[in-house]
Amino acid sequence: MGIKNIVVIGAGAMGNGIAQTAAVAGYQVTMTDIVPEAIEQGKASIAKSVEKLASKGIIDQTQKDAALNIPTSLNMAPVRGADLVIEAATENQELKLELFAELDRFAPREAILASNTSSISITKIGAITDRPDKVIGMHFFNPVPLMPLLEVVRGLATSDRTRDVVFDAGRVMGKEPVEVKDSPGFISNRILCPMINEAIFALQEGIGTREAIDTVMKLGMNHPMGPLTLTDLIGLDVVLSVLEVLHRDLGEDKYRPAPLLRKMVDAGYLGRKTGRGFYEYGE
Ligand code: CAA
Repeated sequence: MGIKNIVVIGAGAMGNGIAQTAAVAGYQVTMTDIVPEAIEQGKASIAKSVEKLASKGIIDQTQKDAALNIPTSLNMAPVRGADLVIEAATENQELKLELFAELDRFAPREAILASNTSSISITKIGAITDRPDKVIGMHFFNPVPLMPLLEVVRGLATSDRTRDVVFDAGRVMGKEPVEVKDSPGFISNRILCPMINEAIFALQEGIGTREAIDTVMKLGMNHPMGPLTLTDLIGLDVVLSVLEVLHRDLGEDKYRPAPLLRKMVDAGYLGRKTGRGFYEYGE
């Protein structure tokens, strides 16, 4: 089955990045969200991103126009015409399970249902549907238009055919797909989030300032951004939720989220998206 029509659920940082990337690649894309402001913010992010990419000659006018004209919806209706649904809603297991049960009712029988989850079990998501063979993880990275990796996560029941179709779609979107077994945090967050968590413990223990911790990892390890700056980009709530899954499902204390991270999430300091995380951001 060739993919023509993609519906992206969620217009946040990941959802709008995925919708933009799919539209630039030539797919018919619809972006949905239940919150009207989220759609507006998502469209504004896409406009800013494609302006930048077009000014550098990375995309042409046709691709820019495709991204600027992505249809949007506040409900599930577009899912009825989808070949591939990519869910990028809030990282909350209960919410995702409910959403997939609903997607399963709305989407055509042949449609593939993918989740951009950072850590929730694809096997569990698949089991809530009547098509577990067509449920798969498509884990993109922030900022989606720039990051070349696509982690393709196979649940226990995901078919070879679904994997092949998603690999092809990922490549058309300009990404390098890597197949990963369904395990907490997959490969990326199993390795990344404990490193970030350790950086937050170091800050909490006063081993260095936020700038010192970030500078050590940037200049000593050649990371493009320090772990605290990166956490602000990803979202402190997202990192906390991944660590909670690792801690709970792998059962080892080494994944225990730093108390400072929990406290900052409680305070609403979620990173760039709220204007404050480990650093402060203006408008
Ligand atoms: N669209 C288009 N252009 C963008 C953009 C976007 N979304 N975001 C940034 N850019 C542009 C900037 O405007 C800038 O352009 P100019 O040079 O013309 O000013 C250019 O990219 C470079 O940006 P910066 O100068 O701000 O900074 P940089 O050189 O450090 O690059 C970066 C930015 C690509 C984000 C780089 O810092 C980086 O790779 N950081 C690490 C990101 C990362 O690790 N992401 C994965 C997070 S984990 C995740 O997403 C998954 C999960 O489950 C948690």
